[in-house]
Amino acid sequence: MRSHVAFNDGWTFAPGFDAARAGEVLPGEPVTLPHTAVELPFAYFDEKSYGKPFTYQKRFVADADWAGQEVDLVFDGAMADSVVYLNGERIAAHADGYTPFEARLTGRLRAGENLITVKIDGSENPAIPPFGARIDYLTYAGIYRDVWLRITAPVSIANCKIETPDVLAPLKRATVAIELANPQNLPLSGTVTVTLRSPKGETIADASAPLEANIVQLAFAGLADIRLWDLASPTLYEMVVRLATASGIDERRVRFGFRSVEFTTDGFRLNGTPLKLLGLNRHQSFPYVGYALGRAAQERDADILKQVLKLNIVRTSHYPQSTWFLDRCDEIGLLVFEEIPGWQHVGDKAWQEASVENVRSMIRRDWNHPSVVIWGVRVNESKDNHAFYAETNRLARQLDTTRPTSGVRCIVESELLEDVYAMNDFILGMEEIGGNRPRTPLRPQKEVTGLDRTVPYMITEFAGHMYPTKVYDQEQRQAEHVTRHLEVLNAAYGDPEIAGAIGWCAFDYNTHKDFGSGDRICHHGVMDMFREPKFAAFVYASQCEPSDEAILKPVTFWTRGDRNHGGVLPLIILTNCDEVELTSGNMPPRRFAPDRATYPHLPHPPVIIRREDYPNEEFGHWGMGWQNVTFTGYVGGKPVCKAEFVADPVASSLVVSPDATRIGASDSVRVIVRALDQMGNRLPYMFEPIGIDVTGPGELVGPGQVSLIGGSVGFWITARGAGEITATITHARLGKVGVKITSDAGSRR
Ligand code: GAL
Repeated sequence: MRSHVAFNDGWTFAPGFDAARAGEVLPGEPVTLPHTAVELPFAYFDEKSYGKPFTYQKRFVADADWAGQEVDLVFDGAMADSVVYLNGERIAAHADGYTPFEARLTGRLRAGENLITVKIDGSENPAIPPFGARIDYLTYAGIYRDVWLRITAPVSIANCKIETPDVLAPLKRATVAIELANPQNLPLSGTVTVTLRSPKGETIADASAPLEANIVQLAFAGLADIRLWDLASPTLYEMVVRLATASGIDERRVRFGFRSVEFTTDGFRLNGTPLKLLGLNRHQSFPYVGYALGRAAQERDADILKQVLKLNIVRTSHYPQSTWFLDRCDEIGLLVFEEIPGWQHVGDKAWQEASVENVRSMIRRDWNHPSVVIWGVRVNESKDNHAFYAETNRLARQLDTTRPTSGVRCIVESELLEDVYAMNDFILGMEEIGGNRPRTPLRPQKEVTGLDRTVPYMITEFAGHMYPTKVYDQEQRQAEHVTRHLEVLNAAYGDPEIAGAIGWCAFDYNTHKDFGSGDRICHHGVMDMFREPKFAAFVYASQCEPSDEAILKPVTFWTRGDRNHGGVLPLIILTNCDEVELTSGNMPPRRFAPDRATYPHLPHPPVIIRREDYPNEEFGHWGMGWQNVTFTGYVGGKPVCKAEFVADPVASSLVVSPDATRIGASDSVRVIVRALDQMGNRLPYMFEPIGIDVTGPGELVGPGQVSLIGGSVGFWITARGAGEITATITHARLGKVGVKITSDAGSRR
């Protein structure tokens, strides 16, 4: 039977690499994977520091039971150029930082101790996509995803694909293709059995076929009582594939869903039902350790996108992301636009061939994820290249007939070889730098495509560098940031030719010196790097239904003198409530309705309180006696939520919120620290230092002394074994706050 176990513990790590010494046990620092080769400060660092080779080593004893079996190491991802040695012999190499690879140990293991040495070169090698020019994000270096030790019978299941055609028919079908691995070229004989199981684990169908070739196809029909995978109830089924040959038994389990996706000239449909796509782009990076946070942090990001930001789609800009992230998208019902590595630059023929291989590897890894609805098979924002993109499209369509292809561009009238035209439309704001039209949220489709017909079309980026906004920026700037997101979403909702819009971007990210604010950060997120929301986050969140969550976020720090000219008007209140009541000082309460005139197409336009609403300057102006204020949201005539502000905020408490208090024994957990005023609002201009002290079986990710950034800061703790972890946060005047987190092997989801 197959064994597939984590191979993450007990590595050593050292900078530099010497191929001549790959067979020697070298001095190194003990590390656990996922691991980043160079830990970076939060900002203002030299991003060239990781652009060089590093050595990872691990010693292990080959088990006597492995005799006669296939033994492989599976690397989920390592950046950027990896070479694997076993006992000094080079056995595998992989020149891509985002796709998985394997190293076959079979037949080369010796009795007793063996030594794995991995060279990782973090250099931005122009032969490897995305490198070759400048790119607006960091790629880091290291074995930053999990590594697995896999033991199988000599003939084993290499991959399986399940497709669910006609999901709208009363009785469902499924077609299955099983690919075998037979590296020893044994004569094939035996049986493949496929069992489909319901979410409760009951068998709903099974079928068998004899082994005749390296690919076995099976079909199921007449499947009754099937629940579809959709956003509200992402029902997951399981396919159990069992292979019985003379050489042994192998078994794999794959989750899948019954769902259909369609991009048409009048939008996107999930299971035949129109759905306007509302999303943000995600970079997979975190502060300090870059890409190197494991399963729990990946899952948490998906949860934030779906449950906090209320999105229905995420684009994995600009590369295939962790399968933990995609698994979670499957579980929670978050659609995914996944794309190959790259950023504007296309290299020579060999580079393009590597990119075509990335298409293959991405699709073959992820074709069973119901969350993935479209393949991005162009290098983001690259120029046309007919032969190259004809090939990426051909291959994608050959590998997967169920999903459309797309390719993300920013150049208008570029050649459409994909099924869906995807545009990064940064037109809003162009008027400020001499654009030849008044402020425009989005261009008409035909102007962008240059085609005389309408085609399936979506917006894959907007905002971003056109209006970088920091979590601690002035309220007025943040209000404009909010307005830009509102205007584009309103335009996308209002245009039936646009399947949806995915904004730039979810989270701030570290970048090269050529981009960002000089601090090596692109402050383009609607959340900062710790995933703390800026006001713009609530543009997205407020589009959900109040039955899901009532959202009420006045875009203000409620202070008299932060905006130019003072006051807080016009005041945007991001909300999905029917009405918002304002109470302040001695003024009679007053109710305001959402501004449908300005944002007719948004599911939930904001309320906007304008200067004209208070012509006598009795509210929200500079110079008035500043008063406390309460905003109350009403749904169906009933008060459902409140936002309250004090006129005289003072630092009152330090609140420490971990995302979870029970975690798995090697999980990372995010902890957010906020300095609050007496009403519980974050102090937006608080930059005082805090100390973070972690005891017990947990490691602090990043430094132990940091400053609050606009009243809050986050950090991650990675569990190193089971037990109780305590984090103590110290602030000079707000005192000490401790949190306890229990790590145990059993608590992992
Ligand atoms: C786009 C690019 C993104 C990011 C964004 C910033 O051109 O595709 O990766 O750089 O600009 O707004």
